[in-house]
Amino acid sequence: MVDFNTLDDFDFEGKTVLLRVDFNLPLDKETLDILDTTRMKRTLPTIKELIEKNAKVVILAHQGRPGSWDFISLDKHAEALSELLGKEVKFVDDICGEKAIEAIKSMKPGDVLMLDNVRKLPYEMEKKSAEEHAKTELVQRLSKVADVFVNDAFSAAHRKQCSLIGFTAVMPSCAGRLMEKEVTTLEKVLKNPERPNVFIFGGAKYSDVVKTIERTLDEGKVDGVILTGLPGNAFLKAKGYNLGKVNEENLAEEWNDELGEKMKEIVEKHGDKIHLPTDLAVEEDGKRKEIGMEDLPTEYSIYDIGERTISRFAEIVRNAKTIFVSGPCGVFEKDEFAKGTRELFKAVADSDAFSVAGGGHTIAALDKFGLLERISHVSTGGGSLERFMMGEKLPVIEALKEAKSRR
Ligand code: 3PG
Ligand code: MG
Repeated sequence: MVDFNTLDDFDFEGKTVLLRVDFNLPLDKETLDILDTTRMKRTLPTIKELIEKNAKVVILAHQGRPGSWDFISLDKHAEALSELLGKEVKFVDDICGEKAIEAIKSMKPGDVLMLDNVRKLPYEMEKKSAEEHAKTELVQRLSKVADVFVNDAFSAAHRKQCSLIGFTAVMPSCAGRLMEKEVTTLEKVLKNPERPNVFIFGGAKYSDVVKTIERTLDEGKVDGVILTGLPGNAFLKAKGYNLGKVNEENLAEEWNDELGEKMKEIVEKHGDKIHLPTDLAVEEDGKRKEIGMEDLPTEYSIYDIGERTISRFAEIVRNAKTIFVSGPCGVFEKDEFAKGTRELFKAVADSDAFSVAGGGHTIAALDKFGLLERISHVSTGGGSLERFMMGEKLPVIEALKEAKSRR
């Protein structure tokens, strides 16, 4: 049970729906062509259901940020969506002016219309309350020509921006199917997992990971935490290992003594649940070389976990009933250092556990090794997923809950 409305709570027959999605897609830097439509595909269940229910579907989305090279109009997005749906998607190069309003008014049930990049509005990215955002032209004008607001932008749910939360203050509002699935699945993993459960953290960032594992371990919500990548290295350093100059430099951006102390505390308190590498792979003269902890410090870059560590971690994964994966074990883009990520992720895919994966690099790695289809739930979230896992409240979800309590 979710505490916001879903598509089940409204009658959409002939209704005009404002649908906020996250179509912020990777583009080719030269041609500005769309490189990958995964995020778009994940909203198709919502869009198709609304079309089948005879709604007029008005899509609101953003691409890039003002000033960035990938900040473009959404005409190509409309084309891509049209191809995926096998149905015309009209595009209007306006967001809430006369042109947009006219286009919305001339829609017929089952039509899909894409408005232009909402971030072209100077106030879109301001961080404000739903009530404050509701005073803008965007919300004032569009809410008058629409009946229901649907938010399916889970991967932007950590933003307090106008088109993401403003409409919920003044219109009947609900979550789309993707948002609903992301929230119910992630809540299940976080609040009510089948045990034993294990979280696997890797990748190149670790300060947020520290917060997430501290909280989940303190609350007794996780039985095992496997740390690889920079999170693994950071905890090794916090435990007192000298990783060598290059590896310490890789940690420097996020490192501070307080964070180091925090990691030490976590290991002292929950050491039995924290699984750290016991051997590593470094790049020596362009080749993979396995080293043990006794070989530290090393003058070479640590690019993967070692083979004994891989076996040990895979065994923990095999015994788990719920698995959350965020971040690769090393530089999986280089064949010599793909082993840790490939084998650990393969263990996740092979297991009967309920598995959840998220984050751009994690998905890219799963995709590269042909494992993506065998993960129970692949989250579209990056920043929003991280914050969700840290136990933070996400503004978009809070706004949807408030919208429900009001009606
Ligand atoms: C994303 O891709 O991270 C979301 O679409 C949010 O975009 P932003 O990070 O530019 O706010
Ligand atoms: Mg982002």
